[in-house]
Parts: sequence; structure tokens; C-alpha cells
Amino acid sequence: MAMAGNAIGLGNFLRFPRLAAEHGGGAFLIPYFIALLLLGIPLMWVEWTMGRHGGQFGHHSTPGMFLRMTGSRWGKLIGSLGISLPILFVVFYTYIESWTLAYAFYSITGAYTTEAVNLATSEPMMHTRQFLHDYQGVTPEGERVYFQSLWPAITFWLIAVGLNCWIISRGVSAGIEKLAKIAMPLLFLFAIVLAIRVLCTGAPDASLPDRSPWVGLNFVWEPNFMALAHFDVWLAAAGQIFFTLSIGTGSIQCYASYLKRDDDCAMTGFATAATNEFAEVVLGGTIAIPLAVSSFGLAATQIIASQGSFDLGFVAMPLAFEDLPLGWLFATLWFSLLFFAGITSSVGLCMPLAAFLHEAYGIGQKGSAAICGAFMLVLGLPLVLFLGHGYLDQYDFWVGTFGLALFAFLELICFGWIFGRHAMWTELQRGADLKIPRIFYYIIRYIAPAYLLVLLVGWTWESVGKEILLEGAPVKDHPYLWLSRGTIAGVVALLGLLVFLWSSNHSIESEEARGDV
Ligand code: PHE
Repeated sequence: MAMAGNAIGLGNFLRFPRLAAEHGGGAFLIPYFIALLLLGIPLMWVEWTMGRHGGQFGHHSTPGMFLRMTGSRWGKLIGSLGISLPILFVVFYTYIESWTLAYAFYSITGAYTTEAVNLATSEPMMHTRQFLHDYQGVTPEGERVYFQSLWPAITFWLIAVGLNCWIISRGVSAGIEKLAKIAMPLLFLFAIVLAIRVLCTGAPDASLPDRSPWVGLNFVWEPNFMALAHFDVWLAAAGQIFFTLSIGTGSIQCYASYLKRDDDCAMTGFATAATNEFAEVVLGGTIAIPLAVSSFGLAATQIIASQGSFDLGFVAMPLAFEDLPLGWLFATLWFSLLFFAGITSSVGLCMPLAAFLHEAYGIGQKGSAAICGAFMLVLGLPLVLFLGHGYLDQYDFWVGTFGLALFAFLELICFGWIFGRHAMWTELQRGADLKIPRIFYYIIRYIAPAYLLVLLVGWTWESVGKEILLEGAPVKDHPYLWLSRGTIAGVVALLGLLVFLWSSNHSIESEEARGDV
């Protein structure tokens, strides 16, 4: 349940529908399922197994796990990415999570349904978009209608950070497992209620039969082979598989490190991926796109999805709910569902750092929760304040896209090649309740690393101008974007240093001498 909570997150209900709508629905699903098979499932097994292996030596974070697997200090340094990436990731993740909490609140109060007077003449989309932009502080000061300052956003963000810290400070069983046991059933319940409600919408306007959830569902599922010729669809699909399955961050390894030596990884790892895919493709695919299509039509839904990362979830959904009887209730369910999905993932992102601080520096649960909170606050504040300058997009690209793929690639090399081909295959199979087909041996060693290499090179090539050299970004935003990059690099360096310092007095020999093993 905790693993499912980790994997099922905002990626399933916000990011997936947006990407699917933007990249042609059924067209997106083909590279998506290929990436699931060739990258997602094998990496899920690799990370579960790596985590369980490290856990046997008392390691609950990747620096120690990589040290064990590779027998080298370099391994430890590579492993430091498995604590810096998730803590950087959680900085922007918690901010979006706090919006879902705020929106659940504002759905009950009905705040965004009141159309602002001076916007009365705008298109129907406008008031929820204005609400979102004002809330984010993206609208310039004097033009804001709903929120005159960022204080509401900051307050909800502080609440979200506080809740995360509180749960982490309670530890794995009393905090994370308990949260998952409460939040996950509620999440599924809300998602199923919403999916059924969406499918029962029919075509609300008889004169517009195309505005029906079934048209949306058909769009999600109808294969379109033409779109496969575009490299960006493949990139987006693989990126989504990483994001949604939580792989390439060190978070899965951390949870798996609490398994026993002979606990099964193959079946449970597969079940985690399957549960996540059910929540993503079946539930996630049945709510946002079909509902938006029934309210706005297919063409408009695609435009909305391509306009901004959050417009489908935060602008189109509230508007579509407004058309339904008891709409506020469904909107509350939707945003609460997002919040549950978000918080069970964000605690999973904090855990690797918390576990590392404990194992390397003996810091207790409360202390490490406070340090994670400090990271979230210090790194998060510029994100909240400079959102309109593209600050978050830098995190999304360097951490959420490039970082995950790079770390996953390094993992595959360490596990499939340095750890050793026999060792890795035996370790994968130990205690398995499911026989992993032999073909995955080849996928883990050859196909997945090659696939990732092509993606990484392709990504770099495609993004040289836009992402790396900041072409297209307004010059006035450049200082903010460099600040964002500098912060990311600084955190990677700082945590790398902490791992390095730990490595100077800690090695396999010293571990064995102390009898940790
Ligand atoms: N998988 C989560 C989601 O879909 C995000 C996440 C990534 C959580 C990495 C933990 C680690 O939203």
C-alpha cells in the first residue's frame, strides 16, 4: 500500500491526462506502453531488488546501497543522486500538492465559481484561469482579481510542508504506512466515484453530440500510428513512465530497503506497477479528458492541455464540475483525491534524505524530518515567489526529466554490469513469487540502458537551444532561471559532499569490522 501510495501521485491524475491530450491520446499510449515494458517494469524490479539488498546491510538510502553493489566509493557518489534528486523533486511537488489542498478548500467555499465582475465579458474559461493565475501570483500585481497577495498560497504551502514533516517524523510504520492505509482507499473510492460520474454525463447538450465523455474516452484509446514518427512523443512517454512509477529517484529503493532478505520483489514490484497503471490509465484516463471533452469538445480540450501544465486539472475540471448538479461536491472530491495522491508521494520523496541523515550522521527521526522541512522551505520560497519567471520549469526539466533518466541509466549500469550479471539475476529471483521471464535479463542489461542512452542523447540534442542555452526565455527571466539552476547544482554538490565526507570514514571494511552486516 505504501509503495502504491508512493507511485500513485499527481503524475497519474494531472500529468498523464495532460500529456495524453497534448500528444494525441491513443497515439501517446503506444510509446507509453512500450516504455512501461522496456523501462518501467524492469527498473521497478531493479529498484526493489537494490533496495532490499541494501537493507540487508543496514542501508536505507542509495549511497550505501551503491557502495555495497559496486564496492567502490564512486558508487557511493553516484548514489548521492538518489538523495539529492528526490529532495529537489519534492520542492516543486509539494508546492503543487498545496494547490490541491487549497482548491479542495475553495471548492467547498465556492470561491472560484464567482465570476469576477470585470471579467464578465471574457470567454467562459476565464474566471477559473484568472483564479489560478491570481493564486499563483502570475498575474501582475494591480490586475489581480481574486487574490491580492501570495499569502493564501504561502499559507497552504506551509500547511502542506508541515504535514509532510509531521508524517516523516513519525517514521515508516507509524507515519508512512498509516497514511497509506487511510489515504489510498479514500483515493480509490473518490476516483471510482468520479470516473462513474463522468461516464454517466452523457452528451449534456443534445445539439452537440460530440461533447460526450465517450468521445474523450475513444480519443484516449484509439491508436494512431502516425504520431509515432515524432521523437517528442517517445520522450514524453518515457518521461511519464519514470515520473509516474517514481523510478530514477531513489525513493522506491528506500521503501524496499525495509523488506526482509527473502521477501518477494518480483510479484510485489509488478503489482505496484500494475496498480499504478490502473490508477493512471484507467482511472486517470477516464476522469479529466472525458469530462473536459463533454464540456468543451475534443479540440478545445487539446488546446487547454497544451496551454499550460495545470490548466486541464485546475481550470477545465472546476469549470466542467460546475455544469454538474452538486458540482462543488465533485470538485471537492477531485481536489481531495489529488491531495491524497500528492502527499503519499511527497513523503516518499523526503524519505531517502531522512534515511541517509539517520544512517550516515545518526540524526533522529524528528531531526531529519526538520532538515527535510528546511530544504523544502528554503528551496521552495523562491519557487513560490518566482513561479511566473519559469523557475519551476527548470526544476521540472533538470530534476523531473533529465535527472531521473540519468540516474536510472547509472543504476542499470551499476546493477546489471558492475554488481555482476549472475549476482543481479540471482538477487532478482530470490524469494520471487513470480518467475521473471528470462528476456528481462537482456532487457535490464542491454535494451533498457541503450533505450535510455538514446533518450538522453536525444533529449540533450533537442533541448540544447531551448533548455540548455535558454533560447526563447525572456531575457528578464534569465537571472531567475540561473538562480534556479544554481540552486539545483548547489544541492547536488552539497549532498554529494555529505556523502563524500561520510565515505571517508565509512567503507565496506569498516562496516564489516563494526559488525553491521
Ligand atoms: N510517482 C509520483 C507521481 O506519479 C511522483 C514521484 C516520483 C513520487 C518519484 C516519488 C518519487 O506523481
